[in-house]
Amino acid sequence: MTSLTDDLKLYLGVLKRVTTIMTVGLLSPHSRERLLAIYNLEQAKNGLPETPQDPYIIPKTDVFEILHLGNAEYEGVYECGFGHTTEFELKVISNLVKERNPQRIFELGTFLGRTTLNMALNSSHDTQIITLDLPANQVDSTEMEIELGEIRYVKKEVSGERFLGHPAQSKITQLYGDSATFDFSDLEHSIDFAFIDGSHAYDYVLNDSQKVLSLMRPGGLILWHDYTNWAGVRSALNLLYESDPNFKNIKHIGGTSIAMLEV
Ligand SMILES: C[S@@+](CC[C@H](N)C(=O)[O-])C[C@H]1O[C@@H](n2cnc3c(N)ncnc32)[C@H](O)[C@@H]1O
Repeated sequence: MTSLTDDLKLYLGVLKRVTTIMTVGLLSPHSRERLLAIYNLEQAKNGLPETPQDPYIIPKTDVFEILHLGNAEYEGVYECGFGHTTEFELKVISNLVKERNPQRIFELGTFLGRTTLNMALNSSHDTQIITLDLPANQVDSTEMEIELGEIRYVKKEVSGERFLGHPAQSKITQLYGDSATFDFSDLEHSIDFAFIDGSHAYDYVLNDSQKVLSLMRPGGLILWHDYTNWAGVRSALNLLYESDPNFKNIKHIGGTSIAMLEV
């Protein structure tokens, strides 16, 4: 149960963000896009047509061009909902892990640990899965602003509850911190498979993409969740795809919100 002080803090945080977006924030293309997203939500609620946002400019690939579905095992695949990958996305991720057999996996954004657990189930017994999450008590003190709509994913009772007590937990290492300030130096050039699904705010996606890229081994694979669902993810990945040669080979996996990059 949240206390009156927590509610007041949340209210003041929301007020501050809304005021910023509606004033100086209008100077920023990203804030204008946020406003458009809010406007579109209202339009959709009232059954009215939306104003088009950025197109999905990243080239699409078919899931059958990148993997063979069917060999993986899953747990809790149908127990999804807000904040989770869809059933199909979880199957795609699990099968990619199974086929590529990475030695070290990094996930940015643990939440309840549903994807973490399924990556653990589909990798070798000696694979290490490292998952970073923002502690709930740091939700109001992040280095950059996170999206209002994702505060609920941060403020959960237990991070990684899906794998806690599970036999596969022994393969999983939980780390805590804000991806903007976290010291990643121990992980540099050591990761074969990464899943970026932390904050969906534009600045965070840019930060997380560059940080995770620096962790990758040559030949590794980076996946991003929510390219098609969150404006911040879409704009950030579009920008990286268009302007940063390191990201020019990003592809969008058709039928999912996942973008991928072979490093
Ligand atoms: C959508 S959920 C992740 C879902 C999870 N990957 C899955 O597939 O089930 C986003 C997670 O990112 C975490 N997060 C948000 N901002 C973060 C930040 N700045 N640094 C680290 N983690 C962050 C949240 O606490 C939340 O657990």
